[in-house]
Amino acid sequence: MSATPLAPEALTARTLAGYLWGSRDRLWRGFGLSLLRSLAVAPCAWLFQRMIDVAVPARDTFAILQLSGWFLLLLALHYVFSVWGAHVTAQAMAQMMVEMRSRIFFKLQFLSFGYLDQQKTGRLLAKYAFDTQKVEALLYNILNQFLPNVLYGVSIFIILTILNWRLALVLGLIIPAYALAKYYFFARIQYSNHAARLAQEQLTGTASEYISALRLVRSFGEEKQAEADLDRSSLDFARQRIHQSYLNAIFGTFWYVSTQVIALVVMAAGAWLAIRGDISYGTLFAFVAGLPIVLGPIQAFVSLSEQFFIGRESFQSIKELIDSTYVEQWQGSRRADRLSGDIVFDAVNFAYPTAPEQLVLHQINLSIKPGEHVALVGPSGSGKSTLANLLLGLYAASRGQIFIDGVPQSEWDMRWVRRQLAVVLQDSLLLSGTISDNLRFARADATDDELRQAAQQANAEEFILRLPNGYATAVGERGVTLSGGQRQRLAIARAILRNPPVLILDEATSALDYQSERLIQEALDRLAAGRTVITIAHRLSTIRNASRIIVLEAGRIIEEGDFRTLVARGGPFARMVATQNTGDDFLQL
Ligand SMILES: Nc1ncnc2c1ncn2[C@@H]1O[C@H](COP(=O)(O)OP(=O)(O)OP(=O)(O)O)[C@@H](O)[C@H]1O
Ligand SMILES: [Mg+2]
Repeated sequence: MSATPLAPEALTARTLAGYLWGSRDRLWRGFGLSLLRSLAVAPCAWLFQRMIDVAVPARDTFAILQLSGWFLLLLALHYVFSVWGAHVTAQAMAQMMVEMRSRIFFKLQFLSFGYLDQQKTGRLLAKYAFDTQKVEALLYNILNQFLPNVLYGVSIFIILTILNWRLALVLGLIIPAYALAKYYFFARIQYSNHAARLAQEQLTGTASEYISALRLVRSFGEEKQAEADLDRSSLDFARQRIHQSYLNAIFGTFWYVSTQVIALVVMAAGAWLAIRGDISYGTLFAFVAGLPIVLGPIQAFVSLSEQFFIGRESFQSIKELIDSTYVEQWQGSRRADRLSGDIVFDAVNFAYPTAPEQLVLHQINLSIKPGEHVALVGPSGSGKSTLANLLLGLYAASRGQIFIDGVPQSEWDMRWVRRQLAVVLQDSLLLSGTISDNLRFARADATDDELRQAAQQANAEEFILRLPNGYATAVGERGVTLSGGQRQRLAIARAILRNPPVLILDEATSALDYQSERLIQEALDRLAAGRTVITIAHRLSTIRNASRIIVLEAGRIIEEGDFRTLVARGGPFARMVATQNTGDDFLQL
């Protein structure tokens, strides 16, 4: 586990209740208000009783007015406390969730890629966006519905007990039976809800896969199969929904009927007590009026329990992420003014954490001098990108060490080191925002002039100026779509802005037409001047000027030298050149 000062703290609460308790400093105000809100209306039952037992026999109209006045006053208080309490609680919850989300995202920045490789992006997104919502909904329900209801029910029950303990006892005895019956139904509904949720997840999962792969599905002419597959999930979900509705209908009716039965029992027992002269009409009336409120907590409990299981699951899933110990192991803190770009791989072995027994790099010994331009070539899967990932410290070597400017990675502050590197990937990612926003991602404080200069050097300005709003054109998800070559030139402009001592280019010029390739190659040559450059290339034409070519095969360095030497040697590289050379002027150097 990392001990860097920046490392996020674990979520100390083990359970949801613990989390609530840990946040008590923020929640007590809302809780206090909901307590007041319940207490404010509790005396209403007693006011009813007074009205019938005292005011009516005395034919005292003024007393009725007076009691009504009290009643209205209490209602007004209840109203104020409710609104105020709900607001205060919602505010505190919202704050807690903002913190929870930022903790999740913060943690993502520390998790090792070995762990992230095993997580589905959708699942991580769900933790960030949906699980926090579910926890919030649950906590809000507890604080703003369940607890006030319980307080309200209990306080009314106490007043009823004071008014007539015998009738209260009758009520006290049937409530558990009622709660048990509800629970039995609830368990079945719970099960059905769970099944429906699984079916829904299955459906959305399948649908999102097919919808995002629409292009693939249609270009393969596999619409029928996708349709059938989706219909199956859809039908399954529909079946679960029907079953769910059926149970809900049974349950809803049961709820109504059983409540009426309880009312009947209380009424009948009360009437019998009244005949015996043990209870006044006013008290009986107070019982009938108070009954729904006493039953309230049970209803609240039932509606809470479903949310509780969902919320608890979400909390656990968030906790699992925040408390995950699979963080990057870099603990160094060393920084320098600027890297000179000297890189040494010393007997590096590497296997991805997801497949620990499969060595992807074997005994890599490689030393790159400042300013040197090294090209990595080799068949697909030979470990070229992996080598770059290791240099960036995205993964740690299984054995051996990587030295940067003579200092092992473990001593560097690797986050700082990454800011000294710039990476241009083949599929350059754009964030949504304008062209300027995307360029400034590399350096937030760059001036407009610097942006333009970088774009010019990257051969990107010419196409940027042709966009509807120039540099202010929105790109990405909700903006214009740029071609692969245009995106790549933006990525190069980004790298220029960053002005890094070390540059990593992963297949930067593959799959482009000749004109784009030439523009990009030019931009790259400009960018490469005066830096250490590691190029990973499939198209061998782009690396003729590299000072050294490293040939990888199955994770081993099998050849090393400059273009001429390697071709002259007639080894694996020369054979690669021969197969790729389809007529242009490669070998005529
Ligand atoms: N995140 C990962 N987890 C597990 N294995 C991986 C991961 N990334 C790559 N590999 C495996 O490591 C090996 C080397 O992959 P790498 O991406 O380094 O190849 P490459 O030389 O860059 O190939 P290409 O030219 O196709 O980009 C492959 O066998 C690949 O399956
Ligand atoms: Mg690769």
